Amino acid sequence: MPDKPRTPIDQLQPGAVLEKPVFHKGRTLFAAGRTLLNEDIQELKHLHITTVVLRDSGTPAGDKTQNDPLSLDLRKQATSILRNAYQDFQNLNSQQTSEILFLGRRLHDEVSHATKLGIAVHDLRDYSNYTYQHCVNVTAISLAIGVRLGLSKEELNNLSVGGLLHDIGKMMVSEKILNKEGPLTDEEMSVVRQHPNWGSELLQEQMDFAPVVWAIARQHHEYMDGSGYPDKLSGSDIHILARIITVVDIWDALRSKRPHKAAWNPDQALDFINGLTMVGKFDPEVLEIFNALIVPYPVGSKVMITGGKVGVVAALNFAEFSRPIIRFESDGKESYLDLLERKSVKVIKTLELAT
Ligand SMILES: [Fe+2]
Ligand SMILES: [Fe+2]
Repeated sequence: MPDKPRTPIDQLQPGAVLEKPVFHKGRTLFAAGRTLLNEDIQELKHLHITTVVLRDSGTPAGDKTQNDPLSLDLRKQATSILRNAYQDFQNLNSQQTSEILFLGRRLHDEVSHATKLGIAVHDLRDYSNYTYQHCVNVTAISLAIGVRLGLSKEELNNLSVGGLLHDIGKMMVSEKILNKEGPLTDEEMSVVRQHPNWGSELLQEQMDFAPVVWAIARQHHEYMDGSGYPDKLSGSDIHILARIITVVDIWDALRSKRPHKAAWNPDQALDFINGLTMVGKFDPEVLEIFNALIVPYPVGSKVMITGGKVGVVAALNFAEFSRPIIRFESDGKESYLDLLERKSVKVIKTLELAT
């Protein structure tokens, strides 16, 4: 196969994905698979790097964006393997642990092949499967972030297994508390808040899982500003793999319909995660990659734009998912507006979410 052409730095758009790593003074500056952010492009310019090799050509993807990193088959299989493992959480046998390790590698493999990814689907949930589906979803999105961060294969495999098992400690919490309809009492809340400790203790008994997998279970509710639990860790004391899971964990919880709450729309969940109450709580680099991966207004959604006009999302711009192309209809005539070209206008809210 002939070599892919190199793209000049001046033509790069945020969201372009590197096919080949970028080296600088003998060091890997950016790994293959990284999605370039604005600062990355600035850094390349600053270092006088003139060209890079991109996957496809980094042009807008329109409807070719893949909206789920996992195939339906793998999702189903993963949920069923996890259900068995979580239900036998106190006595995982070696067949179950090797199934989870194998599943971790398969998820990693599938997600790393999904390059034009814009997360827009949410797995359908039923309450009895909530925890397992949550863990599969969290793992898939976390892996997509890990790939773009340029993590090594080993780190990605650990991220995958850690994501699958991060909430295993919840099996020590009664169903009555987990599925309670109203708000939890202080006492119930303190039981729920033990699940990271319980999870990491359970996993430490399994020789097959790397210590970082225990750390993910223990640290996935810690915040960068020290306001999380159970250990009130802050900054780099929290493992990078746990910092990834933390963001995605909240996203998935907000997007889920639970006995005590409705599912939030993607734009509402994104606003919350990036809003005032969460300032300083997430790893900024992880958050930036996460934001670039999520599609706040999926194709087919009815939305309102600045000025109150209502239209339907016709296509996505891969460079910026929050600025899609909108179709309007009036008097039987169609017109289109590309929000990437009209920066003074933005989507204000989702009126009807496409699923
Ligand atoms: Fe958790
Ligand atoms: Fe979780």
